[in-house]
This record gives sequence, structure tokens and C-alpha cells, in this order.
Amino acid sequence: MPDAKVYRNFIGGEWVESVTRKTFENRNPADTRELLGHFQASNEEDVKRAVEAAAEAYKRWRLVPAPKRGEILYRVGQILVKSKEDWARQMTQEMGKILKETRGDIQEAIDMSYYMAGEGRRQFGVTTPSELPNKFMMSVRMPMGVSALITPWNFPMAIPSWKMMPALVCGNTVVFKPASYTPLSAYNLVKACEEAGVPKGVVNLVTGSGRGVGLPLMKSDAVKVVSFTGSTEVGRAVSEACAPTFKRSNMEMGGKNAQMVMDDARIDLAVEGALWGGFGTTGQRCTATSRVIVHKKVMKEFLDKFMARAKALKIGNGLNPSVEMGPLVCEDQLNTVMKYVEIGKKEAKLLCGGSPLKSGDFAHGYFHEPTIFAEVDPHATIAQEEIFGPVVSVIPCDSLEQAIQMNNDTIYGLSSSIYTQDVNRAFQAMRDAYTGIFYVNSSTIGAEVHLPFGGTNHTGNGHRESGTAALDVFSEWKAIYVDFSGKLQKAQIDDVTW
Ligand code: UN1
Repeated sequence: MPDAKVYRNFIGGEWVESVTRKTFENRNPADTRELLGHFQASNEEDVKRAVEAAAEAYKRWRLVPAPKRGEILYRVGQILVKSKEDWARQMTQEMGKILKETRGDIQEAIDMSYYMAGEGRRQFGVTTPSELPNKFMMSVRMPMGVSALITPWNFPMAIPSWKMMPALVCGNTVVFKPASYTPLSAYNLVKACEEAGVPKGVVNLVTGSGRGVGLPLMKSDAVKVVSFTGSTEVGRAVSEACAPTFKRSNMEMGGKNAQMVMDDARIDLAVEGALWGGFGTTGQRCTATSRVIVHKKVMKEFLDKFMARAKALKIGNGLNPSVEMGPLVCEDQLNTVMKYVEIGKKEAKLLCGGSPLKSGDFAHGYFHEPTIFAEVDPHATIAQEEIFGPVVSVIPCDSLEQAIQMNNDTIYGLSSSIYTQDVNRAFQAMRDAYTGIFYVNSSTIGAEVHLPFGGTNHTGNGHRESGTAALDVFSEWKAIYVDFSGKLQKAQIDDVTW
């Protein structure tokens, strides 16, 4: 398809080609014969221009009243509503997850746009009494400047919106570098910003590789904050690149999320949860349920039902409404899954799946069977390393305490869940699970935009996205003291007598 569209970068309010004059292809992972477009293979010169445009636009954008900034975000949300169906289809075509999920992805961006539009009228600080007379004290949020947003392909519009909307409502400007597997959804989001009236230079889009675009962004002195979502390995490199200039960096990285199933759980419900958490988005979520820790007393019933449901999942092109699981995003990801499945075969009992799908309708895509391993040792490689594919490890346990201990025994700490009918057990697990997100009688996936999203340990670096916590990533606190006594008053020194 030589006539596939060429998409451009968006810098300073203009759609421009990269200085490299090179592009890269965006293909459908369900059928790689389908070419969706050519995108700019940008380099550090493009980054420099985008950062300059963002720095220039910042001078005015930071002074636009926050409620007005919020109104523009509200319009972005409305445009996303209008375009949801078309853009969901394009998202399914570019990264493979099924249409129901890509609609959900865009819905999450709509939710975030509306939520942060509201924050335009809040962004509360505190006022607090002074220890001295005739003195007033308050704290206010300050924007920081140019923000670099480096985003993954598994939530091509939702995750960029988690970063872009709070950045903008706080008064920052943005240079957005999307994953190279999902530049079309990034383009659509930026189009929505343009149509909504985001001023020139406030949102800039630069497509290209991590080395060509991501790294120069992190190294740029003019960039004040880097918000990154991706693997823990790349996150470490991002952290190191940000350290010399003391940039604030917000990291959302890997997960090895567990669903605990107690002996009093409603097993059918727990099976539904494991199926959705384990195989939704083809397992390519940082919040995916990649471990299920099951009480031995209910293990047989759980496994029989879980296996039957996994085997029956319909796999294929996500545009087909009856398909329940799409392909992996790319060949590398499929190879990673196959590598872990081979390791798993040596470590545990393969219950179902275990192979890529390569014939018939699957011949031109990156499909893999839903795969379940049973009798997995909690310290096995497949129980410890993030796979990011449709592979679930089922681990036996004897008690709630043991389940929680296994849940916490990884280098990650994003999400976990418990299935139980006992409120005491539920509260104990809520208290003791060391993850940033916790669910009761629900899967490990399904976070909503108005609570903090992020994790402990090597999942994050202490920041949270979503909710009001997201404002903390994109603003600095300023403490302001106003002395209206007309004389010098010395805090901690003057002894005021009444
Ligand atoms: C991710 O897991 O990569 O919580 C993001 C969820 C979605 C976002 C997930 N709202 O499942």
C-alpha cells in the first residue's frame, strides 16, 4: 500500500516533517500486510525545536487562568466523545486489542479530560494561621515548564491523557513522544487538542525512537519534568538520564500482579476475574493478573473452570466483535512470550495453551494461545518476571497470611486483589498487600481516573498518576507569607505576649 498516509510531527502549532526526512511504518499486528501510515522518524534537532516551541508557549500558557485551561480540556473531552468510534477502530488496527477495550481506552482519556477540566477550578492549596500577628500564610501550586511525556503502546490514548491533562491544567506545556507502535492514536489525541483550541506550542508531538527522541528530551535543560510509562529496565535508564539535571521524573513501570483466591471465595467470580485480568489486552497491561494465588482447598475447582474458560476464548482480529483476545503488539513481544513459555514448561505444569498461532487467519499476525501454568513455585522465573503476554501462573497456598506474603514477594508492587466473602480477611489483605492499587472481589485491572494510579518497589519512584496526586507530578508548591504588621517580625524568635 504505497499510498498510505504520511503523518507529521506537531511543533509550535504546525504539522511539520522531521529534519531527517525519514519515516517509519505503522502496521496492524493482527495482519502485518495492512499498513496504516508512515510517521516521522525524528531526531534531536526535531526535539530541540519542539522544546523551544514549548518553552516559548509556556510564557503565556502559565498565565492563562486555570479555569480557562480547564475549559479547553473539557472541549478535548467532547471531541474525543465525538470521534470515539473511529479512533477506537484505528487503535485496534494499530495495536491489536479488541474494539471493546479500545473504546474503553478512549473513554478513559475522556474521563481524564473532564476530571482535569474540573481541577481547573480547584487545585486547592492551604491557608493556615501564622504564629505571628498580622501575618497571612498560604500555599499555591506553580507550574514547572516544559514537560516531556513518554508513553507506551498498550494504552495509546488513556496513558498519554493521564499525563497530558494534569500537565496542561497546571499550566505546563508538553512535548509528547508516543510509543512507535501507536503513533496514530497519539496523532488523534493531538488533533483533538488542536481542534479544542489548545494554543500553538502548548502541545507538541514528536514521533520516533527512544534513542532519537526520548533520550534528547530527557537530556534537554529546558525540560523540567519527565513523565514515563514503560518497562522497569527502560525506566531505570530514564531515571539515570534525568538525574544529572535533577529533573523531576515520574515513573510507572512493571508489575507482577497477583489475584488471591481464598477458600471461601465465589469461584465463578474469581475465574471471571482471572480471565479478564490475565488475558484482557492479551495480558499486555502493567496491571495484568499474571499470578493467581489459590487456596489449595479450592484449587481443583478453580483450575478446571479457569482452564475451560481460557480454552474457549475466541482469538483473532480485534475488529471482529466476537473476538475476545487479539494479537501481541509485535514480533519481539511474541518472542518474549514464547521464551517465557519455554522456561515455564521446565518450571511448572503447563495446563493449557503454550503455543503461538501461525496458520490460517493467524498467518500474518502475532497471535499466541492463552496459556496457564499450574503448580508454579512462587520463586519460579515465570512467577517473578514480568512477561507482558497471555500467560498466567497459578500458585497454591494454604492460608491468607501465606497468600499475602507471596503477593508481596516480588520486585514490583502495582496492583493486587483478593476474592473472599469474609470481611475480616478482605480488610487484612487491604492493609497488608504492599501494592499501590488493591481490589476486593475484582480483578487486578480496572483503575478509574479519580484515584491515584501507581505502585511500590520497582514499579514506580513514589509518584502517582491520576486523581489529584497527578497534580503533584506537574506542579511545585510555593509557600507564601504576607506580613501586614508594618514591622519586622521574626518567626521562631519574637516572643509575642498578649
Ligand atoms: C495498564 O495496566 O497498563 O487499570 C494501565 C486499568 C486501566 C489502565 C491500565 N484503567 O486496568
